[in-house]
Amino acid sequence: MTSRAIGRILFSNIQNKATLAKLIQNVRLYSVPAENFEFIKVSKTGANNNVGIIQLNRPKALNALCNGLMTEVSKALDHLEADKSVGAIIITGSEKAFAAGADIKEMKDNKYSDCISGNFLEHWSRVAQTYKPVIAAVNGYALGGGCELAMMCDIIYAGDSAKFGQPEILIGTIPGAGGTQRLTRSVGKSKAMEIVLTGCQVPAVEAEKMGLVSKVFPADKLLDETVKLAEKIASNSQLTNAMAKEAVNVAYETTLREGLRFEKRMFHGTFGTKDQKEGMAAFAEKRKPNFTNE
Ligand code: CAA
Repeated sequence: MTSRAIGRILFSNIQNKATLAKLIQNVRLYSVPAENFEFIKVSKTGANNNVGIIQLNRPKALNALCNGLMTEVSKALDHLEADKSVGAIIITGSEKAFAAGADIKEMKDNKYSDCISGNFLEHWSRVAQTYKPVIAAVNGYALGGGCELAMMCDIIYAGDSAKFGQPEILIGTIPGAGGTQRLTRSVGKSKAMEIVLTGCQVPAVEAEKMGLVSKVFPADKLLDETVKLAEKIASNSQLTNAMAKEAVNVAYETTLREGLRFEKRMFHGTFGTKDQKEGMAAFAEKRKPNFTNE
């Protein structure tokens, strides 16, 4: 049956406009997969359909991050970055697990020489290289590579049942996708050492107190709240978002003096954009800005 025929049948059954509006919203939500993914679902949502969602979807393995899954995440990010209508991206999992780490069964027989020659896990860094803002919405376990994946995102929102940790030490290895570096920068040396050296699980509320997580919500409200945040961010100029994100990220990689110099140049650079002219004109004229990402 063609999609037009399905549409005619659906349309004839629709009783009122509210039902139609809801249906259209749901169709939008599931109508944007870049291709047929095996381990993730990709969709767009929000009132302006400008928020991309990547949902990790390997429930039987608690979203363990096998090679195939992370390759799909990279492809989905390529797709959502190329889609000019998308202003912010959410990565989420299920209620039970954001992700329980790299796939232990897949990597257990890896040889050192394979790790070196294939630069094992290097392709995961695609997530941190995304120029559009990325928000992790974490429910359930975010362990090992799962915690590292969340930390590659720009902001972490968590459900109240979320648990963060770097348990690699318990299986004879160490974090290999940023856990020793991003966690330390995020929560400081003593707490990072405790988490990395004990493999303990940190509940969401404690993770928020440490500064690892920005906000905690009841688990069933998490995605809605994260979409609200993503919509707010997506309503800015995409260009200015990218400049702001890059400037904050430089703070992790350089001295204060160099970081301040970089920030100043970025700030100066915004004056070369149409969106700065539009944003400031809109303020002066007491109206909402209409950003064009130029
Ligand atoms: N890799 C592969 N499979 C995993 C997995 C992982 N990281 N985590 C869970 N699974 C699988 C289990 O093997 C199990 O599969 P089967 O049903 O086929 O046996 C299924 O998911 C459900 O898991 P459990 O039965 O263990 O569920 P649970 O509720 O009893 O426990 C858990 C949940 C505490 C998260 C436990 O699964 C666990 O400890 N997982 C491993 C966590 C871990 O060590 N993560 C770090 C991985 S190393 C890493 O990530 C390196 C890096 O830095 C990139």
